[in-house]
Amino acid sequence: MSERFVIRGGRPLRGEVQVSGSKNASLYTLAAALLTADPVTIRNAPEIADIGEMADVCRSLGAEVEVDGTTVNLQAREFTSTAPPMDQVMALRASFLVMGPLLAREGEAACASPGGDVIGVRPLDVHLAGFRALGAEVHREGADWAARAKRLQGARIFLDYPSVLGTVNVMFAAALAEGTTTIVNAAAEPEVAMAADLLNAMGARVSGHGTAMMEIEGVERMHGADFIVVPDRIETGTYLLAGAATGGDVRVTNAQPGELDSLLTKFREMEAELDVSSDGGGVRVSVPRKLQPIQVQAVPYPGFPTDLHAPMAVALTQADGVSTIHERVFDNRTAYVGELRTMGAKIITGGQTVIIEGGTPLTGAAVRALDIRAGASVVIAGLVADGETQVSGVDHLDRGYAHLAERLTALGADVERR
Ligand code: EPU
Repeated sequence: MSERFVIRGGRPLRGEVQVSGSKNASLYTLAAALLTADPVTIRNAPEIADIGEMADVCRSLGAEVEVDGTTVNLQAREFTSTAPPMDQVMALRASFLVMGPLLAREGEAACASPGGDVIGVRPLDVHLAGFRALGAEVHREGADWAARAKRLQGARIFLDYPSVLGTVNVMFAAALAEGTTTIVNAAAEPEVAMAADLLNAMGARVSGHGTAMMEIEGVERMHGADFIVVPDRIETGTYLLAGAATGGDVRVTNAQPGELDSLLTKFREMEAELDVSSDGGGVRVSVPRKLQPIQVQAVPYPGFPTDLHAPMAVALTQADGVSTIHERVFDNRTAYVGELRTMGAKIITGGQTVIIEGGTPLTGAAVRALDIRAGASVVIAGLVADGETQVSGVDHLDRGYAHLAERLTALGADVERR
């Protein structure tokens, strides 16, 4: 039988937790390191399965990659391949990020449509249109998208949608292009901005990152760097929501409040108590009175993150009234609803909207982690529920949450991996 989390719920989480470095930002840094032949050291990477998968993708191209706890050393002196194997590409969405660096350094790249969470259609048009705008020829070769260009040329590029990975891939390609690239309608997520910071540390000239308009002045070559990954804002939000859902009192010590406006605002509307420290003390949430129902829209940053939609839904099952969450990023983000219903939640979907009746007792059940964040939602529901919850699909949780059972146990939860 495959592994499960066995959770005996009904205990409010209490205490402090320090979250790992950002999963997604770390994945971008591994791909960014392919832009130079010099060694790049990445520190504070989370100890999760996706880092190992991304390291394998980079190794398949000839890069030397050593993962030692939270430190990753990567050196891509030269490439032995410009096309990662399909099975590795299918392991995670970020694998497609090797396209930009390969195209920029080698003038060619080929990669299958990547795997990742089944949370919507997830097209690649933003990436491919960006490469074409930089002068690459892009076409289909069997299962692969193949791109070729002698030297990419800077261009003004409008993205149809501010795709996170699309912005990062085009930025990587533009970093070594001839001339200046402007990305209009760029993703403003902090992880994109952090990837740009790493590029600048490697000798690139990127400005405007963290906003919808970025400029990338192409350089001839880039060099090595030693870089520290920022804390994971989604993992932060997950622990804060677990604290609130269980009626507990949780502080995330290395939370970055400046990246959490949308969540903190929703906590205030829910009448949770917040202690937001401006001097590095992190964020603490507690629940002195019944949570109030709210309306949420999941949209691109700085809006409420789609990755916290499902964990938020669980907290709202405990609010005093009816809440709604409208999902506007992915078209298949609501599969978790069926699992929560199994546990007794009164929650329904209508199109992209989820309607949650609060004040509902949850009961332990056998449920599945359907993707990373849907997985987080059933774990939180298990912490809230009376009785025993068994969560299968633990591999999804391992992709995104480092030491999850240990961290929850340290907060007073009764969680066991079996
Ligand atoms: N989209 C397009 N065209 C494209 C690419 C995307 O229309 O070429 C659309 C998608 O269909 C979707 C929307 O854009 O409706 C958002 O997709 P986006 O490309 O921004 O997402 P992503 O880059 O594939 C990253 C994170 C996700 C996170 C989203 C949104 C990684 C590896 N993944 O995905 O993280 O939900 O941004 O913030 O960075 C997770 O960590 O669990 C996770 C799923």
